[in-house]
Amino acid sequence: MTERPRLRIATPDDADAVSRVLRASYGALMKPAYSDTVLDAVLPLITTANPALLAGGTYYVALLDGTIVGCGGWTFARPGAPDAPVDPKRGHIRHFATDPAWTRRGVARALMERCITDAEAAGATTLEAYATLVAEAFYRSAGFRTVAAIDVPIRPGVDLPSLHMIRSAVPDPAD
Ligand SMILES: CC(C)(COP(=O)(O)OP(=O)(O)OC[C@H]1O[C@@H](n2cnc3c(N)ncnc32)[C@H](O)[C@@H]1OP(=O)(O)O)[C@@H](O)C(=O)NCCC(=O)NCCS
Repeated sequence: MTERPRLRIATPDDADAVSRVLRASYGALMKPAYSDTVLDAVLPLITTANPALLAGGTYYVALLDGTIVGCGGWTFARPGAPDAPVDPKRGHIRHFATDPAWTRRGVARALMERCITDAEAAGATTLEAYATLVAEAFYRSAGFRTVAAIDVPIRPGVDLPSLHMIRSAVPDPAD
C-alpha cells in the first residue's frame, strides 16, 4: 500500500524544491493538452515558486520518504490580482503540482483536503480554481465543477487556455 504523504506548511526555504516540482510536473504533464508553442511561452513563467505563496502560510508541500513530491495551496487573494479587494467567503486554489514520478498516489488529493479544511476554517464557503486542461479530472474528483473555459493571462500577449472551476462547501444538488 502506498505511504500517505506527510504535509507541512511551505516556507521560503522550500523555493528550490517547489520550483523543481513545478518544472518537472508542468513540463511533463501538460504536454498532452497544449502545443509546444504554448508550452514554450508559458512554462518559463509558471514554473518558479511564488515567494508570496511560500511566505503566506496557506501553501503546503507534500513529502514522501522525506522528499517534496507535491505542492499546492489556497489564498483569499485572486491569482494575478494580489491587490484587488478579497471576498472573505471565496478562496482561490494556487499552484498545484505533483512530481510526475509520484502521480496517482493521492499526493494532490491530500493537499486539496488540507486546503479545503483550512479554507473553510478561515470562513471560505466557495473555492475557485483556474485549472489547466489536464487537471480537470483531478478537480472534479475533489468536488469542483467546470463553469467556463477561460484564457488565463500569464503576461501581456501570453494566455493559457484553462478552465474556471468552482467548489461550494454545500454541494449543488444539480451536480
Ligand atoms: C493534477 C495533478 C496535480 C494531480 O496530482 P496527483 O497527485 O496525481 O493526484 P491524486 O493522485 O491525488 O489524484 C486524486 C484523484 O484525482 C483524479 N485524477 C488525478 N489525476 C488524474 C488523471 N491524470 N486522469 C484522471 N483522473 C485523475 C482521480 O480521481 C484521482 O483519484 P484515483 O487515483 O484514486 O483515481 C497532477 O496531475 C499535476 O501536477 N498535473 C500537472 C500540473 C497541473 O496541471 N496542475 C494543476 C494546476 S491548475
